[in-house]
Amino acid sequence: MILVTGGAGFIGGNFVLDWLKSPKNEGVVNVDKLTYAGNLATLESLRGDPRHIFIHGDIGDKELLARLLTEHQPRAIVNFAAESHVDRSIHGPAEFIQTNILGTFHLLECAREYWSGLDGLAKQVFRFHHISTDEVYGSLSSSDLAFTEKNAYEPNSPYSASKAASDHLVRAWFHTYGFPVVTTNCSNNYGPYHFPEKLIPLFILNALNGKPLPIYGDGQQIRDWLYVGDHCSAIREVLAKGKLGETYNVGGWNEKANLDVVKTICAILDELKPRSDGVSYISQITFVKDRPGHDRRYAIDASKLERELGWRPAETFDTGIRKTVQWYLDNPVWVDGVVSGSYRDWLQKQYQ
Ligand code: NAD
Ligand code: TYD
Repeated sequence: MILVTGGAGFIGGNFVLDWLKSPKNEGVVNVDKLTYAGNLATLESLRGDPRHIFIHGDIGDKELLARLLTEHQPRAIVNFAAESHVDRSIHGPAEFIQTNILGTFHLLECAREYWSGLDGLAKQVFRFHHISTDEVYGSLSSSDLAFTEKNAYEPNSPYSASKAASDHLVRAWFHTYGFPVVTTNCSNNYGPYHFPEKLIPLFILNALNGKPLPIYGDGQQIRDWLYVGDHCSAIREVLAKGKLGETYNVGGWNEKANLDVVKTICAILDELKPRSDGVSYISQITFVKDRPGHDRRYAIDASKLERELGWRPAETFDTGIRKTVQWYLDNPVWVDGVVSGSYRDWLQKQYQ
């Protein structure tokens, strides 16, 4: 088995679905707290599949983790579980400290205890793979080189600070205890099953629902976008071949200003599902107050992963974003399932 945490979320869910598509891969024990961002509908196609064991639980629950590790004897742990939305971290950082820092700490300690009790081959092959973000490196100016693994950590939001702290814990567990870890720092993901609080899914659904498309500030902030399936393939590579104690940047070589991303979404929707009045979705764009401490630019240099492990993304931004928009058009049932009362409360709080 492998044990995945946060596997009912956006990236973890895509990872579990991709992993189990291959009959040669082992089963997955999937531990998820099912916060607002966790959604079992994402895993619906695995219902009845004995290779997927879903456990509703918290990575901070030491007794539960110890029991699961003893019972299932996983050969690896992939830690996706986190609070992941910058805007929510600005409104309420406490959950971010709880799960991203303390939760990772408890998970590391339980995993280390389990690993210490292994011997022979089982001990030798065991891996703890920590999933992190490029946001730990802080913000770039337009002339700065893209982040490499050697950049200093300079997190600017409660979210990125909590992820940076978790990365440091993982690093320290390797150096101090020899605990076998790898960490990946990935750029902004997009694709199917993405909770519609983040830029791309929020704007696709707002556009279709005739709502404003609220761009923070001048819309010239830059992000590097990676299709989620490419992130999953990178994780599989690093899990299989990554060097212990190393970190690997994962990115799509797709730097885009937010306004350009939004215009691209509008253009695809104009083609695939034109508004009944014939007006472009671009007319729904509005500029709103900027996010406090908004990072200007992220850019990832993923050449280490390419050079050492031979990984390249399969999708360009043009192919990935088209697939993504099409997926939201094709999956109204999944969308209706996540657009709950608490989701509407969040939109009200954030966008008045
Ligand atoms: P998400 O918010 O969609 O999903 C997080 C999942 O973790 C949810 O299913 C939630 O229920 C679960 N969870 C939260 N707290 C938990 C806890 N205490 N115990 C167990 N489960 C818990 O996030 P995502 O976008 O899928 O991100 C997954 C990971 O990838 C995170 O660690 C995030 O920092 C990292 N990451 C995300 C991006 C991105 O663009 N989304 C980019 C780089 C890295
Ligand atoms: P987001 O998807 O929240 O990811 P992150 O903050 O982790 O990069 O936001 C991506 C970019 O889009 C970021 O620069 C903020 C911007 N943004 C808006 O302009 N309007 C919005 O409503 C949202 C959610 C994001």
